[in-house]
Amino acid sequence: MATVEIIRITGGEKLEGEVSVSGGKNAALAIVPAALLARDCCVIENLPQIEDVHVMTDMLRALGAKVTHEGHTMHIDPTGVDKFQAPYDLARKMRASYYLVPVLMGLFGRAEVPMPGGCDIGARPIDYSIRGWEQLGAEVSTERGWISVKAEHLRGSDVSLDFPSVGATVNIMLTAVLAEGNTTIFNAAKEPHIVDLANFLGSLGAWIKGAGTDVIRIRGGRKLHGSTYTVVPDQIETGTLMIAAAATGGDVVIRDAIPYHMEALSAKLLEMGVHVTDDEDLIHVKGAPSYRSINVRTQVYPGFPTDLQQPMTTLLTTAKGTSMITETIYESRFRFVDELRRMGAKVKVIDRVAVVEGAERLTGAPVNATDLRAGSAMLVAGLMADGVTDISGVQFIRRGYENIEKKLLSLGAKIETELREKD
Ligand code: EPU
Repeated sequence: MATVEIIRITGGEKLEGEVSVSGGKNAALAIVPAALLARDCCVIENLPQIEDVHVMTDMLRALGAKVTHEGHTMHIDPTGVDKFQAPYDLARKMRASYYLVPVLMGLFGRAEVPMPGGCDIGARPIDYSIRGWEQLGAEVSTERGWISVKAEHLRGSDVSLDFPSVGATVNIMLTAVLAEGNTTIFNAAKEPHIVDLANFLGSLGAWIKGAGTDVIRIRGGRKLHGSTYTVVPDQIETGTLMIAAAATGGDVVIRDAIPYHMEALSAKLLEMGVHVTDDEDLIHVKGAPSYRSINVRTQVYPGFPTDLQQPMTTLLTTAKGTSMITETIYESRFRFVDELRRMGAKVKVIDRVAVVEGAERLTGAPVNATDLRAGSAMLVAGLMADGVTDISGVQFIRRGYENIEKKLLSLGAKIETELREKD
C-alpha cells in the first residue's frame, strides 16, 4: 500500500529560541551544475539538504560526474562527464535543470535537455534564455519537449533582457564564461543567488563584474579550475522563519543569515508592528499580540520577493483591517488561498491582487500544499491556527526546506510527521 507524508501541527505555540538558516536553494541549484565547467574537482560547502539538490546531484551523476555528498558538503569531479543529453525524468522535476543547457553546450558544443518543470505558479516561459543563447552564437530548437542547442563557436555579445529574469541571467552568465570575448547583460537580475553564482564562477577563475547590479560584464574564454566554495544563506528560508516567528507572537533569533538580503521583508514586518533587529549574521524577530494590516507588492530584488508572498499573505490573515497583496511576478501564485479559506481566512483574489480582511483567528483544518511556497504558507497557517492542521503535499516542502519540522520543533512548535496510507 502506498503511503503519503503528512505534517501535523497543533497551533498556538509561540516560537522561541535560536535557529540556523541553511544554504540557499536557488544559489545551490545554479552553482552545482556550474561546477561541471571546471576542469577539476570542486568542493561546495553549506549546501542545503533538500530534494531539489538531490535531484540535481543525480543528474550530474547520470551525465558521468563523480559526486560525493556528505552532510552539507559536496565534492564534484567533472572529469568523467561524457554525455550531452540530460536524463528526462529527473530534469522534468525542476526548473533549474535547464542550467545544464549552457554547461553541456560549453563542454560539448551541444546539449539536449528536457523543457524544465518546477512549481505550477503560472506561465514560466524560457524565451529570454533562448534569445540569449542565440545571441551568443547557439542554434536552438525546442521540439517534442526537449531543448536542443548546437554551438560551433560561442562568441560574447551584448544581451538586453526584457525583464530581469533570474533563470535567463544565470543561463547567459553560464554561457558567457566559456564564450570567446566579452558579454554584457543589461537589465540583469540582482537576486542574492545571482551574486553567489558570480562569486562561485569567479572562484573558478572566471572574470565577472557587476553581479548585483543591472549590468553584468563577463570576459569569456578563460580556463576554469576547481575551487572550494561556501553557498550563501537562503534568503527565502530566512524570511519564512521570520514570518513564522511573527505569526506566533514569538521571540526568535535567526542565525547564519544575511540581514541585508531581508530589508524588504523587515520593512514590511516593522510596518505591521513586528519588532525586527539585526546584528552581523543574526536577525531577532519579536512578535506582538496583534498587527496592523499593510499592503505588499512583489518585485524583483531588492523588492519584496514573490517567494515570500504566500507566507506573508498568510500572516496578514489575522492582522487588523484590510491588506492588499499584489503579485507582479507570477500570474497564478494565489492558488493556496483556497486552503487558507478552509482555515477561516477572509481573502478575495481579484486578478493579481489578494484582498485580505483580518479575521479574529485561523482554525486548524486538513490542507494541501500545492507548491513549495504554498507549503511554507500552510506551515505558517498551521502554527497560527487554533487546533490541528494536517498538511499534505509535503513533497513540495521537501524540495526547498531542509529539516523544517525539526527547526520548528526546536523553537517549541507542536509539529510531527506521519505516514498515512493513500486511499
Ligand atoms: N519570464 C519570461 N520569459 C523568460 C523567463 C522569465 O517571460 O524567458 C518571466 C516569468 O514568466 C516570470 C518572470 O519572468 O513572470 C520571472 O521569472 P524568472 O526567470 O526570474 O524566474 P525563474 O528563474 O524561473 C527563479 C526561482 C524562483 C523564483 C523566481 C523569481 C530558481 C530555480 N527559481 O525562477 O523560485 O520565484 O526566480 O525570483 O532560481 C521558489 O524558490 O519557490 C521559486 C519558484
